[in-house]
Formats: sequence, C-alpha cells, structure tokens
Amino acid sequence: MINIAIDGPAGAGKSTIAKKVAAEKNYIYVDTGAMYRAMALYLFRLGVDPDDSAAISRNCVGADITIEYRDGVQVVLLDGENVNDFLRTPEVSDMASRTSVNGDVRNKLMELQQELARRQNVVMDGRDIGTVVLPNAQVKIFLTASVAVRAKRRFLELMEKIGTANLEEIEAQIRERDHRDMTRPIAPLKQADDAVLVDTSDMTIDEVVDKILSIIDEKIGG
Ligand code: DC
Repeated sequence: MINIAIDGPAGAGKSTIAKKVAAEKNYIYVDTGAMYRAMALYLFRLGVDPDDSAAISRNCVGADITIEYRDGVQVVLLDGENVNDFLRTPEVSDMASRTSVNGDVRNKLMELQQELARRQNVVMDGRDIGTVVLPNAQVKIFLTASVAVRAKRRFLELMEKIGTANLEEIEAQIRERDHRDMTRPIAPLKQADDAVLVDTSDMTIDEVVDKILSIIDEKIGG
C-alpha cells in the first residue's frame, strides 16, 4: 500500500492540500484531526473533565469511532452516528486540543489510523503521522507557513464565514497552539528526519498540490 504522510501546524493548509492530492492520486484521504475531535466529542458528552487524565484514560477505551467514505467524503461515526457536523465547534476544538495529549487516547486512535493505512492507499494528515503513526510511509511532507501568513488565512476565512475577526488575537492563538503542539511530551509536532519541508507562505494551493505530486512521483514513480 502507498502511504503518504502530511504533517504540520494548524493553518498550513494541510487538509485542503491533502484532500486534493488524494483526489489526484485516487487515494483515500484520512483526516486524523477529525478522529481526535470525535474522541473529544465523546468525552465531552460523557461530561469528562479535560483536566482529569485518569478519567480520560478510563473512558476513552469505550469510544466506538469508525471512519467511512461517502461520495469520497470522510464521515466519522461515533457509536454509528454521523458526527461530522459537531466536530468544528469551539467546545470540541478546545476539548480535542486538551484530550489529544493523553497517551491512551493517542494509542487508541493510532491503531485505527494504522489499520486504515494497512488496507488502502492513503494520504493521511496530522501532527505525528510521519514520525509516529506511519514511520515507514513512502512519502513524508512537512507542510508549514509563517505565523503571519497562517493568521491572515484564518482571518480571511472567519471574515467570510462570520464577518468579524481580530488578526492580532488570531496570531496570538496560533503562536500558543504551535507552542503547545511542539512541546507536548507525547508525539509532539516535529518534522520527521526524512520528511520534505514545503513552506506554503508564498505559494497558491495549486502550486503546493503540484509540488507535492512531483515529490510523490520522484519518490515512488507516477
Ligand atoms: O487538525 P485539527 O485542528 O482538526 O486537530 C484537532 C486537534 O487534534 C488538535 O488540537 C491537534 C490534535 N491532533 C493531534 O494531536 N494529532 C493528530 N495527528 C491530529 C490532530
């Protein structure tokens, strides 16, 4: 099976790019962030305190998370319920950021991710795919962009969606999240030694997709 790992910080454009690369190659796109979000939703609904790591460890094992593809779109099922529409709320984002530091949560989701990659050709995006989840991936990309560019992208996205946003606040949040992602003890955000660094600051989406497709061709042939 062909495994392509795309890691990088929030706002580098990972999911947009990974989705397009997967479509071009006819591979399955696996959004691992959505799995952490589904686990967070499960724990949130149970009323688990995000600061109580023993309670998170105890409860995470009971989460029944499965992934399906409907018309090429990843659907996350929690106990059989399609929860895609509940994964992007601020409560779930915050819960995901706090519960994804838990080793038991990570082990459970990693098994699911490895299982998906064993069965089909995948483009998988996340933070620790090239370093921890799929260390033998044939192609590893570390996608990044400057904090200023990532903040501006998020700003424009929010302006379009809700008509209001604060650029300085967004920049501060990105710095804080980068710091938390890069300094956590388990599976921190880090470029794998054999990953190719792609800085998207001055590139369009299509340019980035083309660049990654050419890296894939170089590594494994078209
Ligand atoms: O990429 P995202 O914003 O959907 O990720 C949601 C949360 O899950 C985020 O706080 C980082 C975490 N995450 C992780 O720890 N490891 C991954 N492979 C993917 C996401």
